Amino acid sequence: MALIFLVTGSSGQVGRALVERLAEHGEVVALNRQQLDLTNPEAIVDTVRAIAPNIIFNPAAWTAVDAAESDPAGANALNAEAPRSLAEAARDCGALFVHWSTDFVFNGVAPVSEVVAPVSGQPRGWLETDRPDPLSVYGSSKLAGEQAVLASGARSLVLRTAWVWSRGGKCFPEAILNRARGGGALRVVADQQGTPTHASSLAQAAIDAALALWGEPGREGLYHLTASGHTTWYEFALEACAAARLDVSIQPITTADWPTPARRPAWSVLDCSRFEAAFGLRLPDWRDEVREAYQA
Ligand SMILES: NC(=O)c1ccc[n+]([C@@H]2O[C@H](COP(=O)([O-])OP(=O)(O)OC[C@H]3O[C@@H](n4cnc5c(N)ncnc54)[C@H](OP(=O)(O)O)[C@@H]3O)[C@@H](O)[C@H]2O)c1
Repeated sequence: MALIFLVTGSSGQVGRALVERLAEHGEVVALNRQQLDLTNPEAIVDTVRAIAPNIIFNPAAWTAVDAAESDPAGANALNAEAPRSLAEAARDCGALFVHWSTDFVFNGVAPVSEVVAPVSGQPRGWLETDRPDPLSVYGSSKLAGEQAVLASGARSLVLRTAWVWSRGGKCFPEAILNRARGGGALRVVADQQGTPTHASSLAQAAIDAALALWGEPGREGLYHLTASGHTTWYEFALEACAAARLDVSIQPITTADWPTPARRPAWSVLDCSRFEAAFGLRLPDWRDEVREAYQA
């Protein structure tokens, strides 16, 4: 019998990438905000019951980081309460639940490697076992969501990712390229470190891991999953403009030069070795993916 997949937030970056890739594996029920408003808990229960999916993918979220500061209830409804309801509904119908969280659960003060030289004393990527300490309402709401999912009793895969981008998506490189094409001056923050992660490869790895888990339970839990390598927003902007052959000058600035309502972590690099060890999957280098996607 064909597997049935339910995808929430199907018009978002990861949602679209999932829908494109899932069809070859079974029947896909893709629901956007109009078709399933996740702020309505009864609608969640009724929908999951009616569809009886085998695997639920939940990339839907409140992703407006700054706007969350002035509407914590709105951010929590979508990022904490909705995943709780979805995970409980998944548990009740025996579905596997795949959920996304964020690097913004950490405070950005780089953890230091405790292993021996040559890397002793160097900042290392955040591990799943590191203590979260979100700086923003968005980060807190996502942390509450992942905790609710993991406590729900559903078989679940919670994937913390970072700096998600996609061609045509609502994301950083698209904003930069639009601005560069329009001749606008570009000033970009150069003191925050993280890993730009392509929605396509992120979705593909989530699908591969979910199918592996469906066939062989036992590796459920919390994982970090980003592209390989790390960089700054400034270098990310340079790389996207270079790939698109846009000759533009970009001024590196500090976080303090670009005040925003939400505080953002300075060191957001996630260590993905737990996911790699569990599923044998590693995402490509962020730079190669940006070059390939935007090369003119
Ligand atoms: N984007 C990033 O840089 C980033 C970084 C770290 C982690 N993540 C996490 O990765 C996951 C996927 O992110 P993404 O970049 O694909 O996000 P996205 O492009 O912003 O997509 C989020 C989706 O959620 C939908 N949504 C919003 N309110 C809803 C509601 N009330 N009911 C149902 N759907 C609703 C949106 O619908 P509309 O299209 O109608 O607005 C949108 O399609 C999220 O969990 C996010 O927190 C993202």
